[in-house]
Amino acid sequence: TDDRINVAIDGPAGAGKSTVAKLVAERLGYIYIDTGAMYRVVAYKALEDGVGPDHAAEAVRTAERLSIELRPGQQRQQVLADGEDVTDAIRSASVTSKVSAYASNPGIRDILVRKQQEMARKKGVVMDGRDIGTKVLPDAEVKIYLTASVEKRAQRRFEELPEGSTTMEELREDIARRDEMDRNREHSPLVQAEDAIRIDSTDMSIEEVTEKILAICSEAIARGVEQDE
Ligand code: CDP
Ligand code: CDP
Repeated sequence: TDDRINVAIDGPAGAGKSTVAKLVAERLGYIYIDTGAMYRVVAYKALEDGVGPDHAAEAVRTAERLSIELRPGQQRQQVLADGEDVTDAIRSASVTSKVSAYASNPGIRDILVRKQQEMARKKGVVMDGRDIGTKVLPDAEVKIYLTASVEKRAQRRFEELPEGSTTMEELREDIARRDEMDRNREHSPLVQAEDAIRIDSTDMSIEEVTEKILAICSEAIARGVEQDE
């Protein structure tokens, strides 16, 4: 029998979702899906086409026309937009500062949520984002809400970037502003699902967080096998 489950990991920027989700997926032999990358692709394309986030209907059309492909990569997952490799381009400061404004558009969310649900249909998926446990995969067998202090999250981002590219102060502001938009938007805001397990990674290593989530997954998989028997 197929005992694979779906794992939803939500939380604010810099909590360690992508890093840990990828490791958990590797250990389980599951597929990792970074839904933030999908919102980033839409923001990237719209900005390239000169369609600002305020042009709601046009931005939705950009999302509708766009083909997004996620491929497992060595470091990060590779992201293709209409066949073009945009893996690095979608991480630019301009996309990062605008992406939450596009992500508050319900038409764009509907399109991406449908794609995400399709990707998880056969189970065996570890998906990270903001609304995975609450909206995209409400029936996920494991739901994690991963968080950390703003200070620690800004520091982690700072350490990832080349020296001199930005200041801690700027990063902290960008993260706080995005958290605020993501938590207060009308459609699918960032909020902990009632049945999610909260993990505060402020004082935890990547390995500790990964092991903790894997233990929760093992329990859920064992429960599923028991129910099948
Ligand atoms: O990696 P980082 O935490 O900087 O952000 P991300 O996961 O790449 O997501 C970028 C933005 O996309 C978030 O700030 C949200 O505005 C939006 N997003 C969302 O609304 N819903 C998701 N499931 C994933 C991302
Ligand atoms: O996806 P999200 O925005 O939640 O975070 P990320 O892109 O995985 O970035 C988190 C950064 O913090 C990475 O540079 C990790 O190496 C580091 N980190 C972590 O993820 N978890 C810890 N417990 C400690 C550090």
